[in-house]
Amino acid sequence: MSWTRAASRERVRIYEVGPRDGLQSEPATVPTATKRRFIELLVDAGLREIEATSFVSPKAIPQLADADELLRTLTQRDRVRYPVLVPNARGLARAEAAGADAIAVFTAATDAYAERNIGMTVAESVRAFGPILRSANERGWWTRAYVSTAFGCPYTGRVAPERVVEVALRLADAGAGEIAISDTIGVGVPSQVEVLVAAVGAGGLPIDRLAFHFHDTRGTALANVVAAIGAGVRCFDASTGGVGGSPFAPGTTGNLATEDLVYLLDGLGYDHGADLSLVLTAARFISDALGRPLRTKVGLAGGWDPATGGPIGLA
Ligand code: COA
Ligand code: ZN
Repeated sequence: MSWTRAASRERVRIYEVGPRDGLQSEPATVPTATKRRFIELLVDAGLREIEATSFVSPKAIPQLADADELLRTLTQRDRVRYPVLVPNARGLARAEAAGADAIAVFTAATDAYAERNIGMTVAESVRAFGPILRSANERGWWTRAYVSTAFGCPYTGRVAPERVVEVALRLADAGAGEIAISDTIGVGVPSQVEVLVAAVGAGGLPIDRLAFHFHDTRGTALANVVAAIGAGVRCFDASTGGVGGSPFAPGTTGNLATEDLVYLLDGLGYDHGADLSLVLTAARFISDALGRPLRTKVGLAGGWDPATGGPIGLA
């Protein structure tokens, strides 16, 4: 008998969004060197997909105005992918000049959110992303598209699952390799996750092209991960130190913390490549840099060493 249930160390991808989603709404400018060091610590921790920054308008997101310099000066390492957010052709050109080979475009399930975030309706954004995704695909780049507000919108409330599926499939048709369904304001629950996975699958999107981006605003993120794993999804976004939230979604608190996700996946027996103690080192680094105590569950309690019964990874 075994405590774990994952068959033969099956792989789950952790897609780290701390440097981008985590830092984008921080009011005080974080020095580029601090961002670079954070990313290096994430790589040291074994994370292999790290969304590094955004090539958006610096007026929209002043914190990430150093994207060009940051990406250019990141140490490129074997088997580490640094996707960057790109909203338009200008962003694509900047990303390419800085050495990008992986991009993410982003829209929402609701027009109200998309208009505030990117100044376009959802339909307009899907049309606008077509040429960007095509260019990226022609260059052999990795591509992803986000569907924000998939579980609920801060401006218009409830979102129909059919709408999420429609937007997801249109983005896939437009050339996005991976579709990241996002709970921008952290309102989703496991039954919704199950409905969405089934509906997106019935719409024809292979499950290995589906990822989930959960926020833990109301404490449901890990429950949602477990539901999604049960439904066959194998890619989850998380933010080391739990930093982040969207500047366009008032009141949102942190993304699902990478350390909380790693603890869960370790316990379930999934292989993900990250080392919990080293993730906690990166989490403490960024918390210190932001001048805040580390408040994530595993950040406070540490991991747990079954050999001794004691915590691991505490400073
Ligand atoms: N990089 C740098 N500057 C850019 C840019 C880019 N990718 N895209 C637009 N700009 C600049 C323009 O040059 C213009 O500058 P100016 O006022 O000095 O002339 C200004 O930004 C506005 O550009 P415009 O084309 O009129 O677009 P807009 O005002 O409708 O903004 C977006 C559209 C998409 C560029 C902007 O809303 C944006 O960057 N949003 C990103 C939001 C985000 O990252 N949210 C969090 C992620 S979920
Ligand atoms: Zn987010």
